[in-house]
Amino acid sequence: LNYTPHSSAKRLPSLTIRASAAAFPSPSDGASQAKSPEQFRVEILSESLPFIQRFRGKTIVVKYGGAAMKDPKLQASVVSDLVLLSCVGLRPVLVHGGGPEINRWLKQLNIEPLFHDGLRVTDAETMEIVSMVLVGKSYNINADTVAGELAAALGAEKLILLTDVAGILEYRDDPNSLVKETDIAGVKKLIAEKKVAGGMIPKVNCCVRAIEQGVSTASIIDGRVQHSLLHEIMSEDGLGTMITA
Ligand code: ADP
Ligand code: ARG
Repeated sequence: LNYTPHSSAKRLPSLTIRASAAAFPSPSDGASQAKSPEQFRVEILSESLPFIQRFRGKTIVVKYGGAAMKDPKLQASVVSDLVLLSCVGLRPVLVHGGGPEINRWLKQLNIEPLFHDGLRVTDAETMEIVSMVLVGKSYNINADTVAGELAAALGAEKLILLTDVAGILEYRDDPNSLVKETDIAGVKKLIAEKKVAGGMIPKVNCCVRAIEQGVSTASIIDGRVQHSLLHEIMSEDGLGTMITA
């Protein structure tokens, strides 16, 4: 038995921007629309069936860093999402970063963290701190890059990068301009137009590399939100930006 999602099977155009708030109708949307938290939870659970069927046995590489790694509540939520995904048959692989912890130590030692196009410039002094924080690991490789290459090498279905923004924003300062879904050509255009800048550049590039090597989709999602992984993987709309070939 292979259940097909009843809702809009239509493909989204290559670049779709939707305000994420639409997924959570507020009571002011009308009494017939208002859903109790229990109803909402049950619907999400029921909606997850086709995704469990689709992704069972598939490898999902998740890079985690930023707030999700710092806040104990978010840490616990990421780990519980991973356990749940594994219990229903997916094969999650976790790659962790260490940027904030490295910066904290550099600050204590009065060393200015230096970045070029979103990637850390690791001089000899910084390397000592990096080694200390990450325990012995001889090259400092950006964890997004590691996650992307690992996803490709493992033949993963998905690559998911948790970060501290909602996803790719068409307009960096407008949280309502989330790009829900796009493809390689779409993200290359966003980089060329300088709409994607700073730390988002290596993130997007490693998604592109992973997809070009066979990973089906790469998502950049908000690690500040509890259970963001489940929301992205197990719902039709997802939560952040999903990049396809
Ligand atoms: P992490 O620490 O999670 O690896 P980074 O801080 O290196 O992430 O990169 C994410 C940052 O990229 C965002 O916080 C944001 O400041 C910046 N950025 C640049 N362009 C965009 C964009 N178009 N959409 C979203 N974020 C962007
Ligand atoms: N859950 C589905 C998947 O993982 C759809 C996710 C859509 N996500 C998005 N950000 N548009 O394939």
